[in-house]
Amino acid sequence: MITVRVPATSANIGPGFDCLGLALNLYNTFYFEEIDDGLIIEGCEPEFCDENNLIYVSMKKCFEKIGYEIRGIKIKIQCDIPVSRGLGSSASCIVGGIIGANEMAGGVLTKEEILELATEIEGHPDNVAPALFGGMTVAIQEGNQVHYSKVNIAKGLKFYALIPNFKLSTEASRGVLPKQIDYKDGVFNVGRVALLISALTNGELGLLKAACEDRLHQNYRGVLIEGFQILKEKCEELGSKGVFLSGAGPTMVALAEEINEKFYIEILEFLKTLKETWVV
Ligand code: HSE
Repeated sequence: MITVRVPATSANIGPGFDCLGLALNLYNTFYFEEIDDGLIIEGCEPEFCDENNLIYVSMKKCFEKIGYEIRGIKIKIQCDIPVSRGLGSSASCIVGGIIGANEMAGGVLTKEEILELATEIEGHPDNVAPALFGGMTVAIQEGNQVHYSKVNIAKGLKFYALIPNFKLSTEASRGVLPKQIDYKDGVFNVGRVALLISALTNGELGLLKAACEDRLHQNYRGVLIEGFQILKEKCEELGSKGVFLSGAGPTMVALAEEINEKFYIEILEFLKTLKETWVV
């Protein structure tokens, strides 16, 4: 039996649309076994237990790339990452499936090749890179190649994921984005991505609020998320150093200093006053 544990991820981190991401300490665990014949999937809704299952599709692509003939597969899933919340549950399935398949086939692919295959399946590298390498990553595509770099975040900061009980599909959330953006908005984001990485690395927490702002996606998506603006303002009032939408949403992430011990308690109290149920 092969066991693979893959973290949830938060993509974009404000201005870094489709390129920045970080791993969170929340995980999906996958158990793989080669069997004599067929496909058995356990641990998810019956409608996902067939050949279209993303874990299985990702495994098949990996076997095809390696040229490995598999007899049959049993996949058991322990799913702790909520689905359609902007926490990279799809990326975890893709990365988990490829790693499981690669191990079954004798560990032929390097981590870089796994990243490239995962990016090809997902369409962008911002979730799959931190799901694979952990920590915070910058990842971009150049043709079929994916270039990535890890960001060493300075100590003293905590990332709080505020997760609602309602879903927002990535498809719907990408659907509200404009086809073109103004040159000024491009410039706005370029500067902030650079500032964000530098400030996180140097521990310049006072710069993070401005550095988390963005004009490529958050304003368009915010209107789809009940409580987005109120929560952002409340987090700032409670001393958060920066707030952003996690991936395509609806989860939001607040950055707070480790020494701000009250933040967790106070934001939990505030979330109880909202119409929808949120957990931290
Ligand atoms: N960068 C992606 C987006 C992450 O914002 O749409 C979600 O898949």
